[in-house]
Amino acid sequence: MHTVTLIRGDGIGPEIAEAALAVIDAAGVSIKWDEVEAGVNAVEKYNTPLPDQVISSLNKTKVGLKAPLTTPVGSGIRSINVELRMKFDLFANLRPAKSFPGLDLPYQDVDLVVVRENTEDLYSGIEHMVTDTISESIKIISRYASERIVRFAFDYARDKGRKKVTAVHKANIMKLSDGLFLDVAREVAKEYPQIEFEDRIVDNMAMQLVLKPQQYDVMVMPNLYGDILSDLCAGLVGGLGLVPGANIGENGAIFEPVHGSAPKYAGKNQANPGAMIMASALMLEHINEKEAARRIEAALTALIKEGKHVTPDLGGSAGTKEMTKALIDLLKN
Ligand code: NAI
Repeated sequence: MHTVTLIRGDGIGPEIAEAALAVIDAAGVSIKWDEVEAGVNAVEKYNTPLPDQVISSLNKTKVGLKAPLTTPVGSGIRSINVELRMKFDLFANLRPAKSFPGLDLPYQDVDLVVVRENTEDLYSGIEHMVTDTISESIKIISRYASERIVRFAFDYARDKGRKKVTAVHKANIMKLSDGLFLDVAREVAKEYPQIEFEDRIVDNMAMQLVLKPQQYDVMVMPNLYGDILSDLCAGLVGGLGLVPGANIGENGAIFEPVHGSAPKYAGKNQANPGAMIMASALMLEHINEKEAARRIEAALTALIKEGKHVTPDLGGSAGTKEMTKALIDLLKN
């Protein structure tokens, strides 16, 4: 039996986590959940958003399934998500965005994977006031982190039979930092002659993705561009309610939806559980339950295509619970 750390999260987190657990169960996978609290709820109980139990559980299980956590804006509390990624050196953030047939969207047949560097860039948290009126945030780009993320992207492309890797940067302006990232990407690309390689400047990339997303495949980029472009890619395939993310390192992995805790929908049975369920499928793949992962993805695809039992963000009128139940019915039949 697998043991996986579970964080039910804040806002819509508990509702979509419940949905994911029921779906995993219906897919026939037995998991012993090591449940720990983090985020806003944990602050009230343990006086910290990241209690020691979370760290010790992840140290033990090496795999986590996590619903979104709320980060108070500008309060001095560092994002728990960023903290977790840094603590466990989960250097690769994998965000696949794939079209679901049947959704009434301007784009069809999109199949993109954003590979985002997860540990440095402007997320290093090195900020200070230069004077009372001037602030400074420091962008760190290292050869070490660039090399391992680009290599991760190429290994992923090779293992998944993908054809092309595009490195995204702003090396025309940030000649040293993004220049280093691009140089490293070009060097690593030479080790994978069977995979096509190209690079794009990030602003052009944003436009190209909106014009013709089908011409891209795997994209690798520093942290901030990855954060922004992965939300753009989510928009191309039907919004944040469907896109999962994986944070992967040498010593473990945490799977979560790309979206946040959407507080305005909390407790209202309106949130789309799709992204959390897709994150669960990625997690199942990671723990070698590939068939269950495939069945969950296929059932969700069929449910969305049919369109009768989906949440309002997908054009339906089902609640979180109704959508989950319909998915479970599909999985069991
Ligand atoms: P958000 O992703 O929570 O919500 C943005 C909008 O997207 C929502 O207003 C809603 O319209 C839609 N949306 C998101 N998830 C949905 C779902 N499952 N079903 C239907 N619609 C959905 O982003 P926001 O409002 O910027 O952040 C809210 C909180 O979440 C903040 O505290 C933020 O720090 C946190 N956050 C946490 C993340 C994580 O735990 N990995 C990631 C992003 C944000």
